Amino acid sequence: MKRLFLTTFTAICCSLLTWAATVTVIPAPKSATMGEGFFTFDGSTKIAVENAQQLKAAQLFASHFGQTAGFLPAIGIDSEGDIVLSTDTTLPPEGYNLDITTNGISIKAADTAGFFYALQTLRQLLPAAFDSSQLQPHTTWQVPVMQIEDSPRFGYRSLMVDVARNFLPKSDLLKLIDIAAMLKINKLHLHLVDDTGWRIEIKRYPKLMQVGAWRMHRDEVFPARPNQRPGEVPNEGGYYTQDDIRDIVAFAAERQIEVIPEIEMPAHTSSSLAAYPELACPSVDAPITVLPGGGGINTQFIYCAGNDSVFTFLKNVLDEVMQLFPSKYIHLGGDEAVKTYWGRCPRCKARMEAEHLSDLEDLQGYFMQRMSDYVRSKGKIPMGWDELTNHKLPDDIIIYGWRGFGEAATKAADQGHKFIMTPARVLYFIRYQGPQWFEPYTYFGNITLKDVYDYEPIRPNWKPEYANLLMGIQASMWTEFCRSAADVHHQLFPRLLAAAEVAWCQPNTKDWYDFLQRIDVQLPRLQMMGINYAHSMFNIDHKLTPNGKGKTTVEMSCIRPDVEIRYTTDGTQPTSTSKLYKKSFDLNKATVVKASTFKDGKQMGEVLTLDVAFNKATGRNVTSDANNDYVITNGLRGSDRHSDFEWAGWYAKDGSFVIDLGKRTSIKHIVLGCINNSSMGVHIPNEISISVSNDNKTFKQVASKSYTHDEVFRTRTAIEDAVFDNLSANGRYVKVAFTNPGKCPKGDFKEGQDTWIYFDEIIVE
Ligand code: ACM
Ligand code: ZN
Repeated sequence: MKRLFLTTFTAICCSLLTWAATVTVIPAPKSATMGEGFFTFDGSTKIAVENAQQLKAAQLFASHFGQTAGFLPAIGIDSEGDIVLSTDTTLPPEGYNLDITTNGISIKAADTAGFFYALQTLRQLLPAAFDSSQLQPHTTWQVPVMQIEDSPRFGYRSLMVDVARNFLPKSDLLKLIDIAAMLKINKLHLHLVDDTGWRIEIKRYPKLMQVGAWRMHRDEVFPARPNQRPGEVPNEGGYYTQDDIRDIVAFAAERQIEVIPEIEMPAHTSSSLAAYPELACPSVDAPITVLPGGGGINTQFIYCAGNDSVFTFLKNVLDEVMQLFPSKYIHLGGDEAVKTYWGRCPRCKARMEAEHLSDLEDLQGYFMQRMSDYVRSKGKIPMGWDELTNHKLPDDIIIYGWRGFGEAATKAADQGHKFIMTPARVLYFIRYQGPQWFEPYTYFGNITLKDVYDYEPIRPNWKPEYANLLMGIQASMWTEFCRSAADVHHQLFPRLLAAAEVAWCQPNTKDWYDFLQRIDVQLPRLQMMGINYAHSMFNIDHKLTPNGKGKTTVEMSCIRPDVEIRYTTDGTQPTSTSKLYKKSFDLNKATVVKASTFKDGKQMGEVLTLDVAFNKATGRNVTSDANNDYVITNGLRGSDRHSDFEWAGWYAKDGSFVIDLGKRTSIKHIVLGCINNSSMGVHIPNEISISVSNDNKTFKQVASKSYTHDEVFRTRTAIEDAVFDNLSANGRYVKVAFTNPGKCPKGDFKEGQDTWIYFDEIIVE
C-alpha cells in the first residue's frame, strides 16, 4: 500500500515536472504531455467546425491573426481541416482534449465552452504578439506539439468589478471581459449600484441616471473625500445605457461569461436615494446626495423597509434588469446595512409590528425575503452577501462569503444553501498586493500574489457537505481607490491570474515556482493588450526586530524565490554586484540599507531604503498588550500609512508600554511618533504621560502632555510627533501611558466610531 502510494506520488511529481517546464498556460491544464516540434499557422490554415457555436468560437480566435499576422485562417463547417473541432460527449462540462501535432490540431469537447477554452489555451500557446493590436510581421505563429486533457475544478469562476465606485467605460470593461475569458473565468459579477453612483439605465426612473449616476469629484483619497456641499453641482460619473448592457452581455456570452447584475439593497444606495429621497425613511433628517467617498454617517441612509413604494420601485427596477441580463442569477446585495434610521422610523416600526418582527435584523430578513421571492417568482435565483446569515435566510438564496475569510457563508451551508467564496482577506483586490511603501494608497492589509495563489477555499475544519454546496470562488475588484482603468489593471493583474488558477486547477497540483515561470510568459501578453500590471511581486518585504540588547535585526524577503536580494549599507544604490542577502543581519549603529531584487543581473524590483536610526531605546525590549509593539524600538520610522506594519496600534482603549533600556540611563529628550489619519478613525491620544523606574515596579512621572479636542480630531493624514524636551530623568525603564480620545465626534468622517491610536517609534536621548 505504502509503496503504491510512493510510486503514484513519484509518477505525479515526474509528470508535473515534465510539463511544468514547458506548458505556459494559465490556469495550468489538468494534464499535458509534451512532444517534439511545432504546428505552424499560416495563410493556408483551415479550421473545420461542426456547427454555428463552434464557428463563433473559432472566428473569435482566428480574428487575432487578421490583426497581427496579416492573414485569416479559413473556417468552415467541415470534417476536414488542419484544426478540427469535434464533439465528444464523454468529456466533462467545459473540459476539452487538445492534440497538437506538427501536421494538425484536434480539439474535442462536449460543449461550446470546452471548444472555446481549448482555443484560449491555443491562444496562450501562441507568441504574446498574437494579442497585439498591431501587425507583427516577423513573428512565427507556432504552437508546440503536445496533448492536453483539461477540465475545471469549480463551475463558478467569477470576477466582480465594482463599476459604482469607479465607473469603467464600456470599452475598458470589454477588455477585462476578454482577458477574464482567456483565463477561463466564466462569471462577471457587476456591482452596478452603490452610494457613489447608479450605473445602469432604468427607463422608468430617469432620475437614477440624471441624479444617481453623478457625484462631486474630489482630489482626496476615497475615505477622506468630503460629502457634496450645498450649491455644488456633481461633475463625475456615468452609467451604462440599456444598449451598452446588451453589448456587454453579448460580448461576454460569446466568451462563455455569464454577467450577473447586483442591485444593492437596502443599504449602499445613496445614489438612488439622492434621486428619489422619498424612498428613504422619513427619519432621515439631512439632504441625501451621491457620495464622493466614504460618506461618514450618510452611508446609514437606506431604503425604508416600512414603505411599500420602496418594494414597488425595486420590483420595477428588477423587471428592467431581468430583461437585460439573461443570467439565471440576480444579486440583491444586502451587506453592511446600518439600521440607525430604521430604528427611528415610524413606518419601519409599524412594519415590524404588522409582521411580528422582533428586531431590526429580522426587518432586513423581511426586506430581503420579499425581494428574493420576487426574483424567484420570475424564475431567477437570488444571491446576496453573507450578512444575510444574520437573520432568517431568504429561500434558496445563494450566499457570497466575504467578511474575513468568508466563514459566515458556512452558516448558510448549514441550512443547505449553496455559496461562493470571495473572502476579503484573500480575494479582495482592493488591498495592497505588496510592500506598502511602493504601492498606490489603498485600504489596509496585504494580499500578495502568493496569498491568492495559496488560497484553498475548502477549509480543513469544514463539514464534508460544505464542499458539495461550494459553487466556486470570486476575485472581487472593489474600486474605491481607482480613478482609471489603469488603476484597476494595477490592482487586478497579476493577482487575477492566480485567482483563475485557484478556480480552475485541482489543489494538489499547485506549484508556486512553476506558476511564476508561467506568468512570466503570459504577462508580456497582457502588456501587448495595454494592461498596466503590477510588478509588486519583485519588491522586498522587510522586518526589523530589536534584539533586546541594543541591536536591531534586519530581515528581508521577496515572494519570488527565483530572485536575489542585493543590498548596500553605505547609502549607494544596490546593483547586481552588491552584497547578496543570504540571512538576517544585526545593526548597532545608524545605517542606511538599500536593497533591491535582481534576476540574471537585471534589477527587478524597486529600491527599498531602510533609514535605520539609533537612540537609547533602539534595539531594546518593549512590553505591552499590542502584539506588534516591537516596531516602537526597531530603529525605523513608519510612513504616513498606519497600515505599513511599522506602527503598533491600540483600538478603543487606553494603553501603555514599557521600554527596558538595559541599564540606568539619563534621559533628556523623548520623541514619540504618533499619527493622525482622521478618515480612518486614527487619532493622537488625549493625554500622554512619561514615567521612569529602576525596578519596573515603582514609576515616577517625569513629563506629560495633553491635547485639545480640536488637536486630537484634526482633519488630516500626518505623522504628529509628541516631543518632551528638557527632561532630567534617570532610570532603566521608561513607561508611556496614554488615554484614548473616545468616539469620533459629530461631523467627523467616522462619527460615532471608536478611535485607533498608533505609535511607530520612541526616540530617547
Ligand atoms: C462588501 O464588501 N461590503 C460586500
Ligand atoms: Zn423606515
